[in-house]
Amino acid sequence: MSLKERLDEWQQKTEAKVIKRPERKQSFANHSDIPISRLYTSKDSPLSDENYLAKLGFPGEYPYTRGIQPTMYRGRFWTMRQYAGFGSAEETNARFCYLLEQGQTGLSTAFDLPTQIGYDADHPMSRGEVGKVGVSISSILDMETLLCEIPLDKVSTSMTINAPASVLLAMYLVVAEKQGVPWNQVSGTIQNDILKEYVARGTYIFPPKPSMRLITDIFDFCSREVPNWNTISISGYHIREAGSTAVQELAFTLSNAIAYVEAAIKAGLQVDDFAPRLSFFFNAHNDFFEEIAKFRAARRMWARIMKERFKAKNPKSMQLRFHTQTAGSTLTAQQPDNNVVRVTVQAMAAVLGGTQSLHTNSRDEALALPTESSARLALRTQQILAHESGLTDTIDPLGGSYYVEALTDAVEARAWEYINYIEELGGAVEAIEEGYMQQEIHRAAYDTQQAIERGQQIVVGVNQFTTADEEEPDLLRVDPELGKKQAASLAKLRRERSIEPHQTALQRLRETAVGGGNLMPAIIDAVRAYATIGEICDVLRDEFGEYRPSVF
Ligand code: 3HC
Repeated sequence: MSLKERLDEWQQKTEAKVIKRPERKQSFANHSDIPISRLYTSKDSPLSDENYLAKLGFPGEYPYTRGIQPTMYRGRFWTMRQYAGFGSAEETNARFCYLLEQGQTGLSTAFDLPTQIGYDADHPMSRGEVGKVGVSISSILDMETLLCEIPLDKVSTSMTINAPASVLLAMYLVVAEKQGVPWNQVSGTIQNDILKEYVARGTYIFPPKPSMRLITDIFDFCSREVPNWNTISISGYHIREAGSTAVQELAFTLSNAIAYVEAAIKAGLQVDDFAPRLSFFFNAHNDFFEEIAKFRAARRMWARIMKERFKAKNPKSMQLRFHTQTAGSTLTAQQPDNNVVRVTVQAMAAVLGGTQSLHTNSRDEALALPTESSARLALRTQQILAHESGLTDTIDPLGGSYYVEALTDAVEARAWEYINYIEELGGAVEAIEEGYMQQEIHRAAYDTQQAIERGQQIVVGVNQFTTADEEEPDLLRVDPELGKKQAASLAKLRRERSIEPHQTALQRLRETAVGGGNLMPAIIDAVRAYATIGEICDVLRDEFGEYRPSVF
């Protein structure tokens, strides 16, 4: 009997049994509406020999489905890079140093909202937010404190900053200068992804056009002056956190990435000069197999986009390198210890999906920023997966799985449908200005919330398996007086800095903003002259205006 005949026979026998003992759901599909079969066999897997070579290939070779490095974690584990930042630069520096002592291998900086939206800590708009969701950084003095005792030629640092990314990058480079570290020995990443801010996160300042100019100026400047710096972290994380499906997360992220590459080429850059330093940032959510399929599909799709559409020649331009954060939106305030299990499953998906860098959420993060002990347990989770689980001893261990290969194909096919439709709308910027991505995300978020409220989607400890009156765990508290302390420091800085270099630098910045040319040198000079983030962004606000979206 052929496989097909045996399978049909098995299906018929099983259907007879299902009548007597029905399965728990009429039909099975995941959140991206991909049907899930009862069983996968070699009939479902697209892996004939020629398909293997066309669709999977080998690690470290085009199309990179199985990983971007020839040895992956057998050569080097992913970077354990815990997102951290709260309160003052001193407090966050202490957390950075603690996490490095505990074995983390990269830094990741969370900034407070005033910093993210380009306001000084003493601006009226900053009231009540200083140091609350991240570290308060208003000037080069704060950045020097943040990075105190951290060797910038040895540690790579990610900065989650978007609209004012150029200012924080400038501050980082000036601190490197003060440490005597040449810029070609500095490594790290700035998120610098404004399109997803319009779609999902909201920390934008300027309209799309000047925002894209600031982004491509960083591509150009770093390709010449800071060659090991990843100039953007094109993010799907926040799109997913806003409620998108995995397919939408992948599709909208790649659509945004296409828009950035097009903008850079339009600005006169050569694709192989900047593309190797583009990086990505995805969510690791609850659906274990779909997440692994998503990461594998992402690598294959990006490789094809860069090779076929943008004619990249450098293999590094085709390699999708990404950071992953486990899904903050799945953490529950109820029974917070359950979050350790969720994060472990999600982190396993990221590792089996081939991530280059990973943040694991802490168990208390649905309630507050993580305490030291919670952040340590989150890091230990990564260390156990790396050193004890065996997950890292062979490359892409789920490759060849009938289900995972079929799911990788299904996720890819659906993502291409979205990408092609967005191209018909004129590309990501037009789709965002029309509100298309936002509407798709809101619809998916609504459907998920409905399923949870109806009990169709179980959230353990929340709508099933609940427990009464739990005591609240110890939580991290940010100093409510921090705003006053930061204001006093800023007043002192403004009193003590030399007036002439400061005014000259801001005037040069204004002239560059109006007259054209790369803005980075002028921003770096302003930072050297102790201009604050608010003063620099105010010059750019004057010249570029502020974005007031009409559709969302
Ligand atoms: N064999 C040989 N070389 C290897 C290797 C192997 N198996 N594995 C790694 N390497 C090399 C790499 O090639 C690289 O060398 P290179 O720079 O000369 O190419 C070096 O080792 C470091 O490896 P990676 O570049 O893979 O790892 P990094 O950690 O340095 O970079 C990244 C990873 C994804 C490219 C980078 O962009 C990154 O670190 N991103 C992090 C972004 C981040 O942390 N974002 C957090 C945002 S938090 C947020 O937004 C959420 C909030 O809003 C709630």
